[in-house]
Amino acid sequence: MDTFECAFCQKTFPVDPFHTFCPECQEPLLCKVPKSDKKFHHDKDSPLEIMLDFLPLDQVDQDLSLGEGNTPLLRLKNVEKNFQLPSLYAKNETVNPSLSFKDRGTALATQKAISLGIERIGTVSTGNMAISTAAYGAKAGLETYVLIKEGAYREILNSTGIYDPVMIIVKGDYGELFRRSLSLGKEKNIYFANSVDPFRIEGYKVTSLEIFFQLNQKVPDFIFSPVSSGGHLIGLIKAFQELQQHGFITKLPHFVGVQAEGCSPIAKAFQQNKPSVERMAKAETIANAISNPDPPGGNLLLRMIRQAGGIIMSTPDEKILEAQRILSELEGIFVQPASATTLAGLLKLTDQGKIDQESRIILILTGHGMKGLDKIALKDTHIMHSDIADLESILESVPSD
Ligand SMILES: Cc1ncc(COP(=O)(O)O)c(C=O)c1O
Ligand SMILES: [Zn+2]
Repeated sequence: MDTFECAFCQKTFPVDPFHTFCPECQEPLLCKVPKSDKKFHHDKDSPLEIMLDFLPLDQVDQDLSLGEGNTPLLRLKNVEKNFQLPSLYAKNETVNPSLSFKDRGTALATQKAISLGIERIGTVSTGNMAISTAAYGAKAGLETYVLIKEGAYREILNSTGIYDPVMIIVKGDYGELFRRSLSLGKEKNIYFANSVDPFRIEGYKVTSLEIFFQLNQKVPDFIFSPVSSGGHLIGLIKAFQELQQHGFITKLPHFVGVQAEGCSPIAKAFQQNKPSVERMAKAETIANAISNPDPPGGNLLLRMIRQAGGIIMSTPDEKILEAQRILSELEGIFVQPASATTLAGLLKLTDQGKIDQESRIILILTGHGMKGLDKIALKDTHIMHSDIADLESILESVPSD
């Protein structure tokens, strides 16, 4: 039987979407999936079905799927060449149904909600998770409650609202809102599948399992992932740890979590060798999708990353924007600033001589650039104007690179 487990006190608890934090340690609980003799079901089409033995589901209801996962692993040869990098790949999560990796977690949480007879789901979000939860809630016919932090871009509000959830823009402290949503959820029977929900984290594991097969069952040397609340990277690490526990692999990748410098509480705690994360007074970064100053999975991620031998680092906004442009101009991949932290982090470690030339590196590109259009500064040369008569002379005046 599946259980919840606290990584800090090792206590186990019954699986319950309304009780997802250890009552003693106040840390997020993780799913323990005991199925022994785990196999991959490659005869199936959907990632959740292929990976079923690793997931806390008895079966997968395909009617709830929006086609999440199975995202491409793209080789970034132009970036490799320009920056003298070793083998570099992007796991392009921006092609998920609502254009971010959040769909993997929401898909799993929705499967669980329906299998348990839950009728109301919700989330607390700065953007991507709101859109994703609204979409999956609509597909599953669930009453959906989305609490969005005040200040979200118009694109986020519109692309959440179109699915017609109950959408509330909430003023106030984000950490407090996170905790309040969980207590209100218990009272009102709304399953808040927030950023570090144990089932959401199980959904993120599937990304790692896909990478493992896309590399012909080889372990990459480095996996770079953006970090905010911590849930995503916790899931990515947990999957490789489970592959190791079940004898599929003998070593883990080096995980590199990247935060934006203006909101980097976990990176600070990691660098200062602190046992726990201190919340930051304010978050100031262009990468607003990863701007949680009070990350609920911070302590758990610190613990897991230290065990796994990875690092959590940070990178300033100007390097994030530079990396966003590099991915677009050289590779044709338009990501939101949060996701560009991965390349910015890699370039920083490369400059510091910390990346071996033989390495195989994966960047997890978590969200599509269409979600933050107002932050794009085009160069003058990107937009020109002409009438038809002058078009030829304008074309002739364009300097060729
Ligand atoms: C685009 C993007 N990348 C990365 C993250 C970080 O995920 P987590 O909060 O689970 O650490 C988020 C979180 O919202 C996000 O929206
Ligand atoms: Zn505990």
